Amino acid sequence: MPRLRIDNHTVEVEPGSTILEAARSVAVEIPTMCYLEDQLPRGSCMICAVKVRGASALLPACAARAEDGLAEMRQQVAQAVQDFSAALAGRSQAIARKARSLIPEGAVVVTHSHSGTVEETLLFVGRQDPALQVICSESRPMNEGKVLAARLASAGISVTLVADAALGTVCHEADHGEHAQSECDCSCLAHPLPIWPVPI
Ligand code: FES
Repeated sequence: MPRLRIDNHTVEVEPGSTILEAARSVAVEIPTMCYLEDQLPRGSCMICAVKVRGASALLPACAARAEDGLAEMRQQVAQAVQDFSAALAGRSQAIARKARSLIPEGAVVVTHSHSGTVEETLLFVGRQDPALQVICSESRPMNEGKVLAARLASAGISVTLVADAALGTVCHEADHGEHAQSECDCSCLAHPLPIWPVPI
């Protein structure tokens, strides 16, 4: 079993475990953003970047495998990442407040995929507008839309989950679109809705 040191902890993990899983097993906190539990890691936001002895660049803890003698994080890197994460969270809140003015009372918003900023915005709007309705597409194959739908629903927001293929149809019921994959060209982008592409 891989055995590594993380800060002042020595940890043994199952082969194939990630550095993030190893860190969490000894209660070392590493912030994450694009990582979703039970989903394949994307390794795209790098908010979970860690310093690994012997590696020439920072590695995404959510995607990098824990290997024998390889992982030793430096506390100051973790602190820098946490500071960066806190700054990003502040920006997300500012975006949510700004986006509030774009979504009228009782709006029906359609979303594709998942974005932390979109989630925060809709939670923010939903707290102020109980009539808000959100239509989430499943966003296969990763099903990020299901995650967004579950989180919004658990916050008491009225959510409808639809198959991706239904997006073109449900856009007729929506007032606004939030599109979390700006590189995607699904059919909703062809619909004359106000669409806000949001990088994840
Ligand atoms: S959480 Fe985004 S790369 Fe790890």
